[in-house]
Amino acid sequence: MIFGAILAGGIGKRMDKHNIPKQFIDLCGKPIIIHTIERMLAVKEFDHIFIAIHSDYKDYLKNILSQYGLDNKHEIIIINGGRERIDSVQNVVDAAYELNKNLDDVIVLHDAVRPFISKTVLINSIATASKYGACVAVIPVVDTIYFYNSEEIVDCPERAKLCNGQAPDSFKLGILKNSIEQLTEDERKIITGTAQICRSKGYSVKTIPGDYQNIKITTENDLIFAESILKKRGFK
Ligand code: CTP
Repeated sequence: MIFGAILAGGIGKRMDKHNIPKQFIDLCGKPIIIHTIERMLAVKEFDHIFIAIHSDYKDYLKNILSQYGLDNKHEIIIINGGRERIDSVQNVVDAAYELNKNLDDVIVLHDAVRPFISKTVLINSIATASKYGACVAVIPVVDTIYFYNSEEIVDCPERAKLCNGQAPDSFKLGILKNSIEQLTEDERKIITGTAQICRSKGYSVKTIPGDYQNIKITTENDLIFAESILKKRGFK
């Protein structure tokens, strides 16, 4: 089976001017998460699409799904998010394994707050994970990146060797499950990307081309950028 997973268990601490988690903020007339769900639903390869959400927001999510005519989509399965993103990932992996008990199934993890994911990237991600076991969408970094301490630059890696990891990242279920099970408590605290988990446990993770417009809405500035992307695409 091919599983999609929309990680929506966060509360958006870096966008705290709103009285709702950032995935529910309106973006040109629709909550951000609805844009994301519609893009995932456009990919017919998914047998099921999990949405991991904080239990306090389950009813809220159900209401907006119904408002946008998505409440009857049989693919969608709503599950509990976890305390940290890694906990939400683990819940999704457990739910997928529980459903089909096949470690060769593929799971495509996407952020609820990346509403511009393209069908091309999603389909490439599914194909690459099916063939190689693990992959992540990346874009070359545009800034110069430094290692630093609080006072000075301590090292300057060569920019040409650096990329930004986006979502989706996709995996054979067995690879992701096994990697998560091996994480120590300290490792869980510093993990920021899912591909990082598998790489740190020795698995090869392929890269696929991401997309500069596949932004993660993290701060207020991103909202401005997101609105302009949609307007440019003719979205009223
Ligand atoms: N996420 C999740 N479960 C968590 C934390 C995050 O599913 N416990 C999801 C978010 O909902 C988001 C994605 O992971 O779609 C990317 O995380 P991030 O941008 O860091 O979201 P938040 O944790 O909500 O933001 P912040 O760090 O500002 O609180």
